Amino acid sequence: MKAIVFTEYGSTDVLRLKEVPTPAPNDDEVLVKIHAASINDWDWAFMHGEPFFTRFFTGFLKPKPTIQIPGCDIAGHIEAVGKNVVGFQAGDNVYGDLCQSGFGAFAEYVCAPETALALMPPSMTFNEAACIPQAAMLTVQGLFDTGNLQAGQKLLINGAGGGVGTFGVQIARTIGVEITAVDSSMKLDMLRSLGADHVIDYMEEDFTRNGQCYDLILDTKTTRSMGDYLRSLTPSGIYVTVGGSMPRILQALFLGSWISRTSKKRIQIVALKPNKDLAYMNELFEAGKVTPVMDGPYELREVPEALQYFGKAEHKGKVVITVA
Ligand SMILES: NC(=O)c1ccc[n+]([C@@H]2O[C@H](COP(=O)([O-])OP(=O)(O)OC[C@H]3O[C@@H](n4cnc5c(N)ncnc54)[C@H](OP(=O)(O)O)[C@@H]3O)[C@@H](O)[C@H]2O)c1
Repeated sequence: MKAIVFTEYGSTDVLRLKEVPTPAPNDDEVLVKIHAASINDWDWAFMHGEPFFTRFFTGFLKPKPTIQIPGCDIAGHIEAVGKNVVGFQAGDNVYGDLCQSGFGAFAEYVCAPETALALMPPSMTFNEAACIPQAAMLTVQGLFDTGNLQAGQKLLINGAGGGVGTFGVQIARTIGVEITAVDSSMKLDMLRSLGADHVIDYMEEDFTRNGQCYDLILDTKTTRSMGDYLRSLTPSGIYVTVGGSMPRILQALFLGSWISRTSKKRIQIVALKPNKDLAYMNELFEAGKVTPVMDGPYELREVPEALQYFGKAEHKGKVVITVA
């Protein structure tokens, strides 16, 4: 099969389209023929081997064989099932995030445990499905499990124009929330069209200094100090980061428990539970309440260009790779 492979860390030049053996499923796995994949921040980070501590998991001098075919999010159909698999059969259309089951999305085939996959609704395309798993799970778990978002509250999403934020605006709108979306000017019209009530260009305005307070701040970039974020929360408001600047996230980690002991405000970090809420996303999709925002699609051989584009952060929503 064809796959994108990297055997050393570096820029997108390290990515090669290669012919590699098609994997065979063990008794607890299924073999998926991949139709579409999408790019996540982790693909960019693992390719660069950064931040450096991630090499404890990915390999110090060069990437471990288990991550040499990158990519987390897949959508495709099941080609074969292991003998212990009960939830799926050959021909089923499935999607999921493989970040805890060996990666390998930028390839024609991948083996995955059935726990990493969900059935696609009939009306969902493979390209749409590939956008959903990692970004939408971070969003749902950030807004509800960690952020406890309630109808009628004021929500701000920082870095709203990417994967997490474009799902966040649409999902929050379904429960009746006043939404402020922060990103660069080129993404603000899109964010308004998705349902944001207010938009802020972060190059023009610092939302932590405009006098507004929010019940929940969901942050994909974590670019400001925790003091700035706390100032922008209502007295019992919650700040939730899903990722971004590592020094700022460490600050959130260390300050979080102290803040919760000394005030009603909260600082929280989302620890992704992959694929946990895909059934909820299927419901929202089938009800027409959420439509993935797609950038692309690119072909498998164009993954280096697609990752380069992702790295410039000019994309809107999710960058999609069409494989088959
Ligand atoms: N917690 C976990 O377990 C876990 C698991 C997986 C991934 N993650 C993390 O989750 C995040 C995923 O976010 P995503 O997929 O939505 O990222 P994304 O697609 O890269 O979107 C981020 C958006 O933020 C904008 N932005 C850049 N600088 C900004 C600033 N200073 N202020 C406001 N907006 C800014 C970017 O656009 P412009 O550059 O054009 O402004 C872009 O639209 C990543 O940080 C990833 O590392 C966390």
